[in-house]
Amino acid sequence: MEIDVSKLPKSQVYKLMTSVIVPRPIAWISTISKDGVPNVAPFSYFAGVSSEPPLLMVSIGSKEEGIKKDTWKNIEETGDFVVNMVTKELLEKMNLTSAPFDENVDEFDVAKLTKKPASVVKAPLIAESPVNIECRKFQILEIGSMGIIFGEVLKVHVRDDILNEKVYVDTTKLEIVGRLGGANYCIVSKDNTIELRKPKL
Ligand SMILES: Cc1cc2nc3c(=O)[nH]c(=O)nc-3n(C[C@H](O)[C@H](O)[C@H](O)COP(=O)(O)O)c2cc1C
Repeated sequence: MEIDVSKLPKSQVYKLMTSVIVPRPIAWISTISKDGVPNVAPFSYFAGVSSEPPLLMVSIGSKEEGIKKDTWKNIEETGDFVVNMVTKELLEKMNLTSAPFDENVDEFDVAKLTKKPASVVKAPLIAESPVNIECRKFQILEIGSMGIIFGEVLKVHVRDDILNEKVYVDTTKLEIVGRLGGANYCIVSKDNTIELRKPKL
């Protein structure tokens, strides 16, 4: 079947896009509002963009027309955020933080997460996460009702036992969560990881 995306209703475009572009990494983003309220929410329209400069991007929607999600608003107003990696044991807590809480609610408290001060940004780190990436707002593109946020990576915190001597994070020691379509997730564990070297000509 060939699907003409321009003829699909918006909700179906979402379903199609998010079930064919899989698995997606999850940026579990912590921010703080300009009034000092911490916020946590997950985003899987998320990708690394470049290493020189070190940039990542996340695409954030609106709560309703003209009202930006709290994460987008906080990044716009304070200029920074932290991307925290999600592992299997954090899956339920991550899911809990995706509920549409009011902007005055601190999702760290809701999900019983521990705040850890960042080194250079105002937003706190999620202490339970094994990798935390401190980012500064680089650019925000407003496309339709979406905010495409580019962040410059400033500091990366990595749990000591998972960093190898070449500065690779050994993800086989973690169980990283990826987002699939609908309510489905995958877990990247040591058993379903393969090592494949580049071919030499
Ligand atoms: C795994 C997962 C991935 C998500 N990815 C996105 C995304 O890429 N963009 C988006 O706008 N919302 C996404 N959401 C929904 C947001 O997490 C949700 O709207 C949240 O309430 C936003 O919180 P905030 O208003 O505190 O920023 C995702 C939810 C889940 C569970």
